[in-house]
Amino acid sequence: NIQMATNVTKQDHYVSRSKRGQILGNHAGFRGCTIWFTGLSGAGKTSISFGLEEFLISKGIPAYSLDGDNVRTGLNKNLGFSKEDRQENIRRVAEVARLFADGGQICLCSFISPFIEDREMARKIHENAKLPFFEVFVDTPISVCEQRDIKGLYKKARQGLIKGFSGIDQEYQKPKSPELVVTTLDRSVGECVKDVISLLEQNGIIP
Ligand code: PPS
Ligand code: MG
Repeated sequence: NIQMATNVTKQDHYVSRSKRGQILGNHAGFRGCTIWFTGLSGAGKTSISFGLEEFLISKGIPAYSLDGDNVRTGLNKNLGFSKEDRQENIRRVAEVARLFADGGQICLCSFISPFIEDREMARKIHENAKLPFFEVFVDTPISVCEQRDIKGLYKKARQGLIKGFSGIDQEYQKPKSPELVVTTLDRSVGECVKDVISLLEQNGIIP
């Protein structure tokens, strides 16, 4: 029931990526890319993404975090947590991330994104636009997420007050070959952020 637009043609910008790169910093020129954090609720996605955003901004590197809780109060406030709605959530976010990355920002996305096929769609959207895409699995065991239960959502899910909760009564499909796995058990957020900084250095995104 999604209406398809007809009679639309792609319009090319007058500003090239290398031109944008000249404006946004001289190291490596254009460095627009997307870092996609996936993991269970309470795994640490938001903390790592926001920590990394803070680090990048402090270095004068344009970065912006898109987070599930935030996007779901704005752009995606008409979506719930069914498999279909999660897919549409990820599709819209991936398209927005592509725009940020195309504009030369390091776009940090923190979404549970529990389904492999949806994350592959996000990757494809970036590959088609020739923009680097890094999938980062925030690998925190569900027992630990549930023990932390920062928002009290696991408790509610166990009581049956929340239906379709990731890892409880809906699937979370672990990534098979992410660019990076970050473990959080007995580690500080800062250490986890450093793991991702190393990934960006290794790939020439940051000096
Ligand atoms: S998804 O799967 O990518 O579409 O989810 P996302 O957009 O990241 O939103 C996850 C946040 O929504 C809250 N929440 C739930 N999470 C999982 N399952 C259910 N049913 C649910 N209901 C509400 C929760 O705060 C999630 O945030 P995080 O940061 O992951 O804990
Ligand atoms: Mg979060």
